[in-house]
Amino acid sequence: MPSLPAQGLSTQKAPPAPPAAAIAFANKLLAKMTLEEKVGQMSQVAMNSDGGTGVEQQIAEGKVGSLLFVTDPVELNRLQKIAVEQSRLHIPLIVGFDVIHGFRTIFPVPLAMASSWNPALIERAQSLAAREARAVGVDWAFAPMVDIARDPRWGRIMEGAGEDPFLGSKIAAAQVRGFQGTDLASNDSIIACVKHFGGYGAAVGGRDYDSSDISDNQLYNVYLPAYHAAVDAGAGSVMSAYMDLNSVPATGNKFLLTDTLRTQWKFPGFVVSDWDSIKSLTTHGFSSDDEDAAVRAVNAGVDMEMTSHTYRDHLAQAVREHKVSLTTIDNATRRILIAKYDLGLFKNPYVDVDRSRTVIGSPEIRTEARHTATQTAILLKNDNNLLPLKKDVRTLALIGPMIDSKPDTLGSWSLAGDVKSTVTLLDGLQHALPSTTKLLSTKGVEIERVQPSIFDSQFPSPKPQLTTEAERKKEFDHAIDLVRSSDVAVLALGEAQNMNGERASRSTLVLPGEQEKLLEAAVATGKPIVLLLMTGRPLNITWASQHVPAILNIWYPGSEGGNAVADLLFGEANPGGKLTVSWPVDVGQVPIFYARQLTQIPDHPETRYWDGTSAPLYPFGFGLSYSTFSITGLTLDKPDVVAGASLTASVDVENTSDREGSDIIQLYTHQRAGSASRPVRELKGFQRIVLKAHEHRRVQILLDTKDLAFWSPQTKTQAIEPGSFDLWMGDSSEATLHQQFRVSSNTHAANR
Ligand code: BGC
Repeated sequence: MPSLPAQGLSTQKAPPAPPAAAIAFANKLLAKMTLEEKVGQMSQVAMNSDGGTGVEQQIAEGKVGSLLFVTDPVELNRLQKIAVEQSRLHIPLIVGFDVIHGFRTIFPVPLAMASSWNPALIERAQSLAAREARAVGVDWAFAPMVDIARDPRWGRIMEGAGEDPFLGSKIAAAQVRGFQGTDLASNDSIIACVKHFGGYGAAVGGRDYDSSDISDNQLYNVYLPAYHAAVDAGAGSVMSAYMDLNSVPATGNKFLLTDTLRTQWKFPGFVVSDWDSIKSLTTHGFSSDDEDAAVRAVNAGVDMEMTSHTYRDHLAQAVREHKVSLTTIDNATRRILIAKYDLGLFKNPYVDVDRSRTVIGSPEIRTEARHTATQTAILLKNDNNLLPLKKDVRTLALIGPMIDSKPDTLGSWSLAGDVKSTVTLLDGLQHALPSTTKLLSTKGVEIERVQPSIFDSQFPSPKPQLTTEAERKKEFDHAIDLVRSSDVAVLALGEAQNMNGERASRSTLVLPGEQEKLLEAAVATGKPIVLLLMTGRPLNITWASQHVPAILNIWYPGSEGGNAVADLLFGEANPGGKLTVSWPVDVGQVPIFYARQLTQIPDHPETRYWDGTSAPLYPFGFGLSYSTFSITGLTLDKPDVVAGASLTASVDVENTSDREGSDIIQLYTHQRAGSASRPVRELKGFQRIVLKAHEHRRVQILLDTKDLAFWSPQTKTQAIEPGSFDLWMGDSSEATLHQQFRVSSNTHAANR
């Protein structure tokens, strides 16, 4: 296992400890509980699997502490009533659900939200998701997913914030604040669950569930910081991951769950397993049977079991046989009771069903969902200002397999989403266009996964309708005819929602099905083409980047997606999102990320392959706007700074266009020498700003030298190492404005 870092300089505050009143309440209750009742609190039943059978009786007997996958408020009140009125100690249930990017009203997928580089916007979106969820009695979100991901083959890259630990940490903390608010007992708050702890995003080959082999260096400097930031932001729970971390399954991994989470980070909340991941310890060839799995998981630090019932069936006996201590059981139960107390469930276990109807899908939430989708889109290319389109265009063609698919507009992990009220691209354009514009639309091609998705029964994408080759050809030709008859054609291509997310990894990144062919045929007509990308991962759009004049990545834009996209296409909104993942030219480049090491012949990093470039198609931090910006005049307020103090870097930013727009100013650093060589650049600050036409602003970004600390594989400590640093500012990871500064030691002791 990785060695633990010695206690060095900590860049983070410890999370708040639970209030004394909550601890006292839980202890009083604990004193009355039987061993079986304690194990009951540690057991979560999935209502959409066979565990849901006979659940009423189990709840009445105190054998269930939590439910997942019930979202109907009437049903939740009914089940809660059994817990509160029929169980011996009247302990309410805590109800979890995947509130990932909205609950009924769906916001853009997490990778899209990250592309806004706007923690306040993301916090707001998650607070609205929390409000809708809490209104029906769901009080616990299985989010945020903060797994750093550098391999777009991995389907779950869509659920996180991308490749960067600094940005990922800011977004993780914002999401926790959004879900939990300032008072968990309020109507608008739910408990966050940081997942999947830890290192799930490094699955080998990008294959979902495959093991992660992560060096100490990568673990402490890249993969762990975002979980730590979420814990420090006060997240109430953490979910253990499915995969083996360096050969030890995360759900039985004491190094992760106890030594790191509890001992180092002082996490006071509770840990839940992932779905069946305790039972799976045996499948992994780690534990010998269910009982051994339960023992290993609880002793490693898992407080609650999701779905499988090894705790329910074996834990009490294991305590009697002294394989698990009663203290371990008491600690786990106490943490769960404290969460229920904090949520106010002992006082208010039920929800007001009438109120839930007014909260869900309120105009305020819909408006915010639309606004968020305009902030998360990324303009990748816009030759000759083809976008925004003129509203008086006479004939516009909208083509693509998902243009009128509601589930595909929402994206994966929208399991409770209100599909019916979803505004598709077609709906959005129909609303936005004047009656004088003729809107032509058709699918052109259909797409489908080669293997079915695990979510097909709960959240299907539309099935292909065209069954013969002749039908498919006719539809393809029809689409190209429509392109020919239009003044401008918008092709919306990408992946169906079930092509990314869980168990949705890929071995290629090409546009699925015949989409590339459709795009090439559309371009061959000579008509102006706008490519809208609907995706949860970077795709291979290298041909498009050379031949299509305008490319706007809209991700999966959510419930108000069609309206937001119309706002963007016609210039009511101005795109300003930027990539939080490096966009590869080809799948052979992955994993690809900007914060690579300096190496032999560092000057030509793009020539690492003889048969193609090793530079990305679009770099991390890149994204265009309908406005243009000039960034000049980088200055630092001081050339030398003492370790632990801050310096301020400033640039002049001018909107050089006639249109209001936003840009994201980014600050990168590089440590020139030290006890270990450091990445060529690392993001250490950012700010999204809005500038009116021709407005000028001096933008200042504070660089806290604590953010320069890193874990050194030589010293095995987390420290700021004094010395010379480079600093760049601009609006992508390829920023060129450069300065240098020195960090001096605040003691005479050398750090290496
Ligand atoms: C996923 C988790 C999710 C859980 C409950 C698992 O398969 O890995 O991310 O929260 O299911 O739906």
